[in-house]
Amino acid sequence: MLVTSRSYAEYEAMFDLKVLPESVLDCCAGGAGFTAEAAARGVDAIAADPAYAKDHAELVDAVRRSLPATAGIVDEHRGSFVWHWYGSPERKDQHRIEAADRFLQDVAAAPERYVAAGLPELPFGDRRFELVLCSHLLFTWADKYDLDWHTAALRELIRVSNAEVRVFPLVQQGAGAPVPWMAELLGRLESLEGVTTEIRKVPYEFQAGANEMLVVTRT
Ligand SMILES: C[S@@+](CC[C@H](N)C(=O)[O-])C[C@H]1O[C@@H](n2cnc3c(N)ncnc32)[C@H](O)[C@@H]1O
Repeated sequence: MLVTSRSYAEYEAMFDLKVLPESVLDCCAGGAGFTAEAAARGVDAIAADPAYAKDHAELVDAVRRSLPATAGIVDEHRGSFVWHWYGSPERKDQHRIEAADRFLQDVAAAPERYVAAGLPELPFGDRRFELVLCSHLLFTWADKYDLDWHTAALRELIRVSNAEVRVFPLVQQGAGAPVPWMAELLGRLESLEGVTTEIRKVPYEFQAGANEMLVVTRT
């Protein structure tokens, strides 16, 4: 799986973030620039990803190798992507290159913010983070991870959140096929005590039609 590097601006749009709360977890953060930028704004921001178990040189290599690889996916499924948010392929590349640089600087300067961990088990206490974000793992890889895995992963993200979990996108990678068991998954989450779910529109779109996030609220 690619260790991609979305930018803070991409996260802001994908998750329709306005004001950040006191603490945020980005899981699966990969090479994203979100945690570095959020921490610079005074937020208690932590990134989790199994890729952080790599040594520094391997991580740099994985992040750098993933930059051109994402363009390959877009080329393969050309008709399935829209460009109104980015404006052009060059501007998308610029987001990713700058985010990768920001991530690599921060992971070297503040390694304590980057925790090697993978769903469905995270090494954080119950209700540790006000907000938990998950970009391009859940649903994206629904061909690889099934309904039961997603249920376990979301239960774990809910466990470590004190208020909200947000997940984007809600479609599969590449051509953006819908997730066949989405309704069943939402039903399972709704049956948990104190948990409500909502599908909410966001101001970001790249895979055509993928302009919604899942918001899970914990009361
Ligand atoms: C497509 S990247 C997304 C990275 C970042 N969130 C972004 O939007 O650019 C998917 C990431 O999920 C990570 N990953 C793979 N399996 C995981 C798991 N079980 N739990 C958490 N992260 C995982 C990969 O290492 C990779 O960095």
